[in-house]
Amino acid sequence: MKQLIERLGGVGGNSDGGVTRLLYCEAWVAAADLVQGLMGAAGLETRRDEVGNVFGRLPGTDPSAGVVLTGSHLDTVRSGGRFDGALGIVGGIAALAALRREGVRTRRSLEVVALCEEEGSRFKGSLFGSRAILGLVEEHEPDAMWDRQGTNLSEAMREVGLDPKLVSNARRNDVECFVELHIEQGPTLHEAGIDCGIVTDITGLSQRLFTVVGQADHAGAMPMDRRRDALAAAASMISRVATIASEAGHPVVGTVGELTVDPGSANTIPQMVRFTLDLRHPHDRVRADILSSIVQECQHIAISGGLSLEVSELWEQPGSPMDSALQDILADTASTGGLTRQAILSGAAHDSQLWARHVPTAMLFVPSVNGRSHCAPEYTSPEDCAQGATVLARALAEIA
Ligand code: HGY
Ligand code: MN
Ligand code: MN
Repeated sequence: MKQLIERLGGVGGNSDGGVTRLLYCEAWVAAADLVQGLMGAAGLETRRDEVGNVFGRLPGTDPSAGVVLTGSHLDTVRSGGRFDGALGIVGGIAALAALRREGVRTRRSLEVVALCEEEGSRFKGSLFGSRAILGLVEEHEPDAMWDRQGTNLSEAMREVGLDPKLVSNARRNDVECFVELHIEQGPTLHEAGIDCGIVTDITGLSQRLFTVVGQADHAGAMPMDRRRDALAAAASMISRVATIASEAGHPVVGTVGELTVDPGSANTIPQMVRFTLDLRHPHDRVRADILSSIVQECQHIAISGGLSLEVSELWEQPGSPMDSALQDILADTASTGGLTRQAILSGAAHDSQLWARHVPTAMLFVPSVNGRSHCAPEYTSPEDCAQGATVLARALAEIA
């Protein structure tokens, strides 16, 4: 596991120790090749679909039976860690390799997938790999999404030899359940000294774009009481987001992670500011209520300063409960293997939250040291990775 994580983590590695593998970029292409090679070397039948998802298959004894799918995403956030997504892929390969080596024959086929994209780091639409397999990508979508450089998703696909017109061919109807191994990305398991987390729910998520419009004026000549400074107003709004989310209490989390200032010069009062809000809670009603108080307060700040505020939707993902029978199998498998485990809520988003709305789905977490993730210090010990892959292998064998 140590070797596999290091090899994959080396692809797209940055000088700061982080990893950047954005969809269809050079490092992504190299990583997809590496992963397909690892799957082949593990004795799995490999193939790629129309969006670049990579599959490795261990055939079952009943060719007419459906598929039990495991895996995670190959892409990363900008300067992310080596384990987010990667562990589910290499853990899945290691699990299927072990089952094959041990001569375990299952009725249903087992497949591991390296999903092409989950993070939304290059193009705003997330979960592109899973959405393609589930037939949820709209036909016009590849033409309607751009990255920061102005490259269109369709163009980016063509650059790596994929035809955006064929995305719908990636759809599959034979997947019967999905099981994802992942790092926790928060501190709970590591701090409690627990080996595994059995995910009960994945949080729901509301992402919004706030556009604050004021007036550009001279930073030296316009008196303070005459200004309509979009950034000063945005700063008050952002500080309200943090306060409202903190006061709402665990597990509510609210983050402003992207900000653009226009015109963005030191001696001009900012005319327009755009910032993102990422608000999470597993219960959709609770999240909607908090979102509406945030928007209301921000509107109040805008109006009282003579500015305007527009809020548009970037992403809305409902909370997803995991399948209880699969949770039981993971929990029993962990206990039988002598591991400690606890039920846990996922505050991070995952491919599994989409799969859960279509087929029985479960997630297994292993500890993240100090809860660090989406950053270079992200770390899970090789022992914890191997334990996760072992539980995954045994659970997959039982499910299939
Ligand atoms: O945003 C998330 O929680 C995930 O890591 N994509
Ligand atoms: Mn992530
Ligand atoms: Mn992830």
